[in-house]
Amino acid sequence: MKPILLLLLLSSLSYSVATTAYPSIPGTTSVEYAAETDTLIPPRREVYGNGRIFDISHRYSTTMPAFETNDGVGQFLWLPNSMKNGSIANNSEMKLPTHTGTHVDAPGHVFDHYFDAGFDVDTLDLDVLNGPALLVDVPREKNITAEVMKSLHIPKGVRRVLFRTLNTDRRLMFQKEFDSSYVGFMRDGAQWLVENTDIKLVGIDYLSVAAYDDLIPSHLVFLEGREIILVEALKLDDVEPGIYSVHCLPLRLPGAEGSPIRCILIK
Ligand SMILES: *[C@@H]1O[C@H](CO)[C@@H](O)[C@H](O)[C@H]1NC(C)=O
Ligand SMILES: *[C@@H]1O[C@H](CO)[C@@H](O)[C@H](O)[C@H]1NC(C)=O
Ligand SMILES: *[C@@H]1O[C@H](CO)[C@@H](O)[C@H](O)[C@H]1NC(C)=O
Repeated sequence: MKPILLLLLLSSLSYSVATTAYPSIPGTTSVEYAAETDTLIPPRREVYGNGRIFDISHRYSTTMPAFETNDGVGQFLWLPNSMKNGSIANNSEMKLPTHTGTHVDAPGHVFDHYFDAGFDVDTLDLDVLNGPALLVDVPREKNITAEVMKSLHIPKGVRRVLFRTLNTDRRLMFQKEFDSSYVGFMRDGAQWLVENTDIKLVGIDYLSVAAYDDLIPSHLVFLEGREIILVEALKLDDVEPGIYSVHCLPLRLPGAEGSPIRCILIK
């Protein structure tokens, strides 16, 4: 009885220490403390290399939000072959809509002729998805309109911008229920960006870069030129605004107009 109690105590201690280090991301444990217990606790981190590398992709989970449903993503991972069943190894299987969690949109998402012509995620420019990037805080009281874009004073020459909004403060990506009041680009904000900036990578912190009221119009404005890449549902919690090097890699899925994407920021 006693050793078990101690073990429980130790593991709860390791959890609370880890949560003070990275307060806002559920499920996070840190390596150092995990190592102090007898149980095997895999490290789950948000930050690597002594604060140099930030993971800005969300963990895929059954309870993460999905577009226009209150049920969340639901079960997407199975273990058809397991060692407990006598298999020589564990091999799991997954089934996931391509626009789940942190993901990228290709031009074929909203333009059927681009879809037919093959502008899928395999054709996205990795040069746009990797390089210097600006993380900015957007004024919290509005959606991203032309006026808001103007007020951000993003210099010419900046090619990659991650927009942190009220969505992060509201922790919308940690709520199972889809919330259509999320902040995103209004059509005129998207138009302003296209016409007045050099931004080619647009990142945002909920499932769509476009505000719900301008869902399709804003996507059309961004994707028509086939130069701008949209990365959605980024995890921008606990990162200082400023300049980083962003690295985003979609899966090579010919025929798919969206893909899960792993993105990191390096200081
Ligand atoms: C192994 O067990 C899992 C869980 O009980 C089950 O879903 C799966 O179908 C089983 N697979 C085989 C090959 O028996
Ligand atoms: C293998 O699958 C079993 C479930 O059958 C699971 O409990 C175990 O943790 C898995 N092992 C590894 C190495 O993932
Ligand atoms: C942004 O637009 C949505 C509708 O798309 C609306 O529900 C929400 O209140 C707006 N947010 C702000 C901060 O104005």
